[in-house]
Amino acid sequence: MDEVKSRQINVQPSGWQCMAGPDDSLLEAALLSGVRLPNSCRNGTCRTCMCKLLQGSVSYRIEWPGLSADEKSEGWILPCVALAESDVTLDVPDAVKVF
Ligand code: FES
Repeated sequence: MDEVKSRQINVQPSGWQCMAGPDDSLLEAALLSGVRLPNSCRNGTCRTCMCKLLQGSVSYRIEWPGLSADEKSEGWILPCVALAESDVTLDVPDAVKVF
């Protein structure tokens, strides 16, 4: 029997917790849990959602998310196209609780 893996998303500095299903981008998962992260294009190009990954690892839905290699190595991610590969902690000071 396949187990559906959910990952936990911790949003700092607020400390809000969200759950992400395997196919949910971090942005979608957070919104489903009532936490709105800054966003605009939702397709990995505008960089409005760009934030720091403090812990954990992500993969991307698209081949070339709009980040430089330097930015990636510094821990910047684009949550609108990022999938959690583990439990993750994000630094998003502008996150808003919507419900
Ligand atoms: S919302 Fe545009 S890159 Fe994420």
